Amino acid sequence: TTTIKVGMLGLGTVGCGVVARLTQAAAKIERMQGFRLQLATIAVNHLNAPRPVQLPLGTRLTDSIEAVVSDPTIQLVIEVMGTLTTAEHAIEQALCHGKSVVTANKDLIATAGPRLVALAQQHGCDLYYEASVAGGIPILRTLTDSYATDTIQEVAGIINGTANYILSAMTTTGQSYAQALAAAQRAGYAEADPTNDVGGLDATYKLIILSQFAFGQRLTVEQVAPTGITRVTAAACQAAAQSGWQIKLLAQAQRHGHQLYCRVAPVAVGNAKPLSRVAGVQNGVAITSQAIGRSLYTGPGAGGAATANSVLNDVIVAASHLLAGTRGRAFNRNQANLSVANLSG
Ligand code: HSE
Repeated sequence: TTTIKVGMLGLGTVGCGVVARLTQAAAKIERMQGFRLQLATIAVNHLNAPRPVQLPLGTRLTDSIEAVVSDPTIQLVIEVMGTLTTAEHAIEQALCHGKSVVTANKDLIATAGPRLVALAQQHGCDLYYEASVAGGIPILRTLTDSYATDTIQEVAGIINGTANYILSAMTTTGQSYAQALAAAQRAGYAEADPTNDVGGLDATYKLIILSQFAFGQRLTVEQVAPTGITRVTAAACQAAAQSGWQIKLLAQAQRHGHQLYCRVAPVAVGNAKPLSRVAGVQNGVAITSQAIGRSLYTGPGAGGAATANSVLNDVIVAASHLLAGTRGRAFNRNQANLSVANLSG
C-alpha cells in the first residue's frame, strides 16, 4: 500500500480532532481508498503542553513550522493553527514547496483565498478548505458538485455557531448576553478571541467564501459591513419569540439580475421559515436555486470532531489527486461580475 506522509500545523481543538479521526478511520481509509495516511510531523507552539489526544506511533512533534513545510518527504500539509499571519506565510511556503494544503482557516481564505489558489496552481498543487465554512456541513462541496449547472438566487445562512448559541440561550433561558457568551466560550465554540464571532466578522468571512461558490462573486468585508449581536438583549429575543419570530444572526446574499445584495446582521426570522429552527451551536444554510428550489443544509458549525471530519475528507481528496497526478477543484469556478449592494442600507 502507498503511504502518504502528512504534516500538520497546529494541535488545538480542530488539530486534536484530526488526530483522533485519522486514528479511528485509518483502516477504513486504507480499505476504501487504497492508501495509508501517515501523520509524520506536527508543528506546535508548546512541545510539552498537555493534550487530550494520543498521538499515533511515529508522529513527531516540532516547534518549527519550517520543519514541516520544507520537509521533502511530506506531501500534504494540514493547517489548523487558527492564526492569520503565521498561517498565511506557512501555507505560502508549503505551496511553494509543491505540497497541497488543507486548511480550516476562514479568515485567511476569505481575505487571500484566490491569491493562494493561484499560487497553488503555479506550483502544481491544490488548496482545500471545506472546513472553513459551517464546520461539519459539506457545503462547499455541495455548492461545487450539486449546483454545478444550477443558478442560485439566494444563500441565507446561520453560520456562526457562537452567535447562534448566544441568541438561542438568551431566547430560551433568558440568560444575559454576557452569561450566554461565557457559556459558549466554556463549550469551546467561540474563537480564542470571540470578537469576530459576536461582531459578525466571522460570519462575513464565511459569507464571502459562500458567495464565491454560489455566485462566482467575491464580496469584501466593506461591502458586507456586518452588524453583530452585541446589542441584542435577552428581552428583545424573548419579545420576538412571543410574537412568532426568532432573532438570528443572518448572513445573506441574494441575486436580482446583475445585482448582488448582501448583509450580515441580526434579523427576526419568522417561525414558519426553516432557518428559525436552527438553534444552539447548529449552523444552517438555506439555498434557493432555479432547478432545486429551496433547500436547507443544517449541522454542527463548530467543534473538534465535526470540523476535523471535513478536514479529513479534504485530505483524502487531496491525497487521491496526488496519487492520480491530477488537480482538484479551483476556487474561481465561474467568475461573475455583479454589482454589489447592501441589503440593510
Ligand atoms: N467560532 C466559530 C463559530 C467556529 O462559532 O461558528 C467555527 O468557524
